[in-house]
Amino acid sequence: MKKVSIIYWTGTGNTEAMANLIANGAKEKDSEVKLIPVSNAKSQDVLDADILLLGSPSMGSEAIEEDEMEPFVESIKDIVKDKIVGLFGSYDWGDGEWMRNWVERMNSYGAKVFEEGCIVNLSPEGEEADKCIDYGRRIIG
Ligand SMILES: Cc1cc2nc3c(=O)[nH]c(=O)nc-3n(C[C@H](O)[C@H](O)[C@H](O)COP(=O)(O)O)c2cc1C
Repeated sequence: MKKVSIIYWTGTGNTEAMANLIANGAKEKDSEVKLIPVSNAKSQDVLDADILLLGSPSMGSEAIEEDEMEPFVESIKDIVKDKIVGLFGSYDWGDGEWMRNWVERMNSYGAKVFEEGCIVNLSPEGEEADKCIDYGRRIIG
């Protein structure tokens, strides 16, 4: 039974919808999933997790959300070494630059980022929803 923490920020609900879909995928495997808005997240949620998933939409100018997610990510940089980390989030007009930078950042902390993260344009519908479920399923292994 793998322990999974899914910690996310959302403004208009798109990244939260992704978090729920990824959780559904993970639950198809042998896992115990906690879904945690970043405002409630503690470093213990990271320490306890065999697999950590972090979600933020592209905000600012191709950046993760700056008031809550950015300081949280900074605060866990010394406790993610060798941890399997999935990254996900919604975007609109960009090309996914925020996710490429975030993957590189987490890898620089020693995390084992799963694939290239999972990104969706606006709300996850149809194949994009399936992509989220599949990301959650596959990250459990
Ligand atoms: C202040 C602000 C800045 C944003 N900056 C970007 C950006 O740089 N690139 C991009 O692709 N989308 C950007 N967006 C669009 C959001 O990423 C998009 O609306 C996303 O679906 C929001 O996800 P959420 O519903 O989880 O909040 C921005 C949105 C806001 C409100």
